[in-house]
Amino acid sequence: MIGLAVIILAAGQGTRMQSVHPKVLHPVAGVPMLRYALDVAQRLQPDVIVPVIGHGREQVRSFLETQQHLSLTIVEQPVQRGTGDAIMIAKSAIGEKTQAILILNGDVPLLTDQTIERLLSLQDHEQPSVTMLTARVSDPTGYGRVVRSGDNRVERIVEEVDASPAEQKISEINTGTYVFTPSFLFSALDEIQPENAQNEYYLTDTVKIAAAKGNGVVSLLLDDPAEAYGINSRMDLANVEGVMRRRIRERVMTSGVTLVDPQSTYIDYAVEIGQDTVVYPHTALEGTTMVGENCVIRSGVRITDSVLGCAVTILDSSVISGSLIQDEVVVGPFAHLRPGSILEQRSKVGNFVEMKKTVLGQGSKANHLSYLGDSRIGRDVNIGAGTITCNYDGTQKHETIIEDDTFIGSNSALVAPVKIGAGALIAAGSTITKDVPPEDCGIARSKQVNKPARSLKRNQKTK
Ligand code: UD1
Ligand code: CA
Repeated sequence: MIGLAVIILAAGQGTRMQSVHPKVLHPVAGVPMLRYALDVAQRLQPDVIVPVIGHGREQVRSFLETQQHLSLTIVEQPVQRGTGDAIMIAKSAIGEKTQAILILNGDVPLLTDQTIERLLSLQDHEQPSVTMLTARVSDPTGYGRVVRSGDNRVERIVEEVDASPAEQKISEINTGTYVFTPSFLFSALDEIQPENAQNEYYLTDTVKIAAAKGNGVVSLLLDDPAEAYGINSRMDLANVEGVMRRRIRERVMTSGVTLVDPQSTYIDYAVEIGQDTVVYPHTALEGTTMVGENCVIRSGVRITDSVLGCAVTILDSSVISGSLIQDEVVVGPFAHLRPGSILEQRSKVGNFVEMKKTVLGQGSKANHLSYLGDSRIGRDVNIGAGTITCNYDGTQKHETIIEDDTFIGSNSALVAPVKIGAGALIAAGSTITKDVPPEDCGIARSKQVNKPARSLKRNQKTK
């Protein structure tokens, strides 16, 4: 939107969170709460997005630097002297040609694009000094209250700590979201004083100025007050988390995914799931996970930052992170795939198998009780029960290469670095320390010796 600037307030300390971390970085559905305001802003395609940071600035800045899909002009508020002070500092980043300034709070993550668009078009049509977003809530505790005059016009906003008992009963609250005319905003900010219970420069005081001598105040009341929920405490955080998760589940189900028990299915903000995939109860799909079509994810599974192809089955109680799983693969139950695991088409990883930085080739199987780390395993390989790649010598990690069509007998230890050639066979119970050429049989265990079973007979006698 040409002529639009967005300022996102994110410098506050968040004292009520009782946390050493900056409030705006506390996650909601797996991403820092600040991400929501940033993404709403980005979708409007404004001329500039200005996050104001301050408390925990290094941490907040390094989060912002990971958001490469955004183009941001970050400003720092050295001392958190209030929301009004924060906007004054942001002024330096606002261009001459700006026609409207949208202000969002970094701690109000549930606002929808539709609401913001309605707010902007109201401002555009009526050209008041400010258009503000309000909500009517059953419990207004913690919010600024909207004080209206006899003819129902907005007169001012009073913060809870400054409100009289009668004002505290007002159920219409300020969401902290506004669109301002730039010239009005900055001249009004020059007038405000930190004369209130918190000794802060309140942005909200500009509303009184707009009502008294500006071009007036227009307000938009939210249909769904949940959009206004701000996060000040851990209770608020849990509350917003619940709303956000419900929204994500509804989005996913609307797009054709079955959630057998939506309430116990935890899907993070950035996760994508393909059509006709079925997700069973007590599952978590986290981070940047992408799941293809027609997959089945059974109970007790947690998948983080991983990509699953189509028709993949993840059986119960498997934990998967940083992995790539191609079409028609079956994993679990009780499998642990750590970062760098790549399971090619139709491969299978079964019970109590742990993998890390390992490629398992097409159609290959590791069905039971194995550790496969720092390995490259070819096609149609059978990894017997209890196979261990001994990848660590106490100081360094080494690679195991297992070529196509090999058969690794049960309870084998492959001491890396080592290479098992194509078509080779490893006899069960072997400890392999040297490369095995293609088509050879590697056997490395002591020979079985059979002796007369005298002792056994003695035992039988005593019975
Ligand atoms: C603010 C509003 C209140 C509104 C509520 C909505 C003011 C004075 N009050 O109150 O009317 O109902 O939001 O959620 O504006 N921040 C800075 N610099 C500062 C102080 C705050 O950047 O010096 C940021 C915070 O990081 C936060 C936002 O501004 O993202 C709001 O600050 P907060 O202290 O949470 O204000 P509230 O008391 O919630
Ligand atoms: Ca707040």
